[in-house]
This record gives sequence, C-alpha cells and structure tokens, in this order.
Amino acid sequence: MTQKNIYVRLARPEDIPALASLIPESARTLQANYYTPEQIEGALGTVFGVDSQLIQDKTYFIAESASQVIGCGGWSKRKTLYGGDLGKKVEEDILLDPRFEPAKIRAFFVHPAFARKGIGSKIMRQCEVAAIEAGFKTIEIISTLAGEPLYRRFGYQISQQFEISLPNKNVLPVIRMVKNFSETHSFD
Ligand SMILES: CC(C)(COP(=O)(O)OP(=O)(O)OC[C@H]1O[C@@H](n2cnc3c(N)ncnc32)[C@H](O)[C@@H]1OP(=O)(O)O)[C@@H](O)C(=O)NCCC(=O)NCCS
Repeated sequence: MTQKNIYVRLARPEDIPALASLIPESARTLQANYYTPEQIEGALGTVFGVDSQLIQDKTYFIAESASQVIGCGGWSKRKTLYGGDLGKKVEEDILLDPRFEPAKIRAFFVHPAFARKGIGSKIMRQCEVAAIEAGFKTIEIISTLAGEPLYRRFGYQISQQFEISLPNKNVLPVIRMVKNFSETHSFD
C-alpha cells in the first residue's frame, strides 16, 4: 500500500546529487541478499547510476516525501539497456522505433526505509503508461536479481539470464525480462 504524502514527479537535472546519494544507499542495502559487496561496489557508477539522458528526455521519475528523494526509476525510448553516465560506451544513444523495438525500463532504486511501500510500483505504472502513449508495444528490462519480483508482479517474463562484466573484475548476474502490451492490456 502506498504511503500518504509520497509524490512522483519527473526528475530534473538539479535532482542528480540526491540521486547519486540514493542509488548507492538503495543498492548496498536492498541488494545485500542477492549480490556480494564486491559485486555491488563494482556495479555502482557504471551499471547502477544516473543516466542523465533520461532526465533530459523527461522519461525519468523520482518519488519524494517531505522534499526528500526516496525513490527513482524511468523508461527509455533509446537503445541503451542499462547503466549510468559513467558506463556509457557511445556518445549518441540512438532512438528506438516504437513500432518494432521494445522500450526499456531503467534504473529503479528505492530508499531502504521506504521499501515495500508501493513506490517502485507507482513509478512502474507511470513508466508503462508513458511508453505506451509513445507508441511502444513491448517493454524490456535488464533486471537485477533484486528487481525481478517487482517486474514479475507487473507481468514481465524472463527471456534470458546473463552476466555483466564489472570494472573490478567481478560479474553481475542479471535477467532480461519482457512484457508485450499487444497481448496484455492491464497496468497491473
Ligand atoms: C526493486 C525495488 C525498486 C522495488 O521497490 P519497492 O518500492 O520496494 O517495490 P513495491 O513496494 O512497489 O513492490 C511491489 C511488489 O513487488 C514485489 N516485491 C518487491 N520487492 C520485493 C522483494 N524484495 N521480495 C519479494 N517481492 C518483492 C512484491 O510482490 C511487492 O508487493 P508486496 O509488497 O505487496 O508483496 C527495490 O527493492 C530496490 O530499490 N532494490 C534495489 C535496487 C534494484 O535492484 N533495483 C532494480 C534495478 S533493475
């Protein structure tokens, strides 16, 4: 159940410092049952981080409570599947064709003190509505092991499991999940 006084709005460039502090706090606590500290530290920055392109595109949301940023997540109409600005390998992140290519769900992080209060779900619903309004028929996610239960709850199905190589020589097991909106019309 969503708590009262939690608001979701589009992220703005001035939110980046708050996001840069929320993301490690969320990952270090909420992923502790799924990944080792070495995997989490290796992924922070490159895999887990802010992609400012999404903020620029107005496809990234934050959840706020009492003016504190307590959650974030977004969707993308671009090719990059995951990762923050520090992990970007190409200069230009090309736009997808919504008729044939899946939109992406990107970078969901909730503050540990606010986990399991429906914040991730609230942001997911906004992302799905916006992606469908933009003409996408399918959405895909490269999910962490910690994110999988949320996305499964939203009807996403596992299509692949693989490992991301991290800068500190560790690897991060992740799951590609997909939902086709031509077959399912509900927003959970
Ligand atoms: C994944 C994450 C964003 C979920 O956010 P959240 O606000 O806690 O999720 P919600 O409260 O909306 O959860 C909705 C449902 O998803 C499922 N779910 C979410 N987290 C779960 C968990 N840790 N274990 C089992 N089920 C879970 C449950 O069905 C839950 O409903 P319930 O609480 O009524 O049982 C949060 O755990 C997080 O920030 N994790 C660390 C960062 C991360 O790995 N993000 C995913 C990147 S792909």
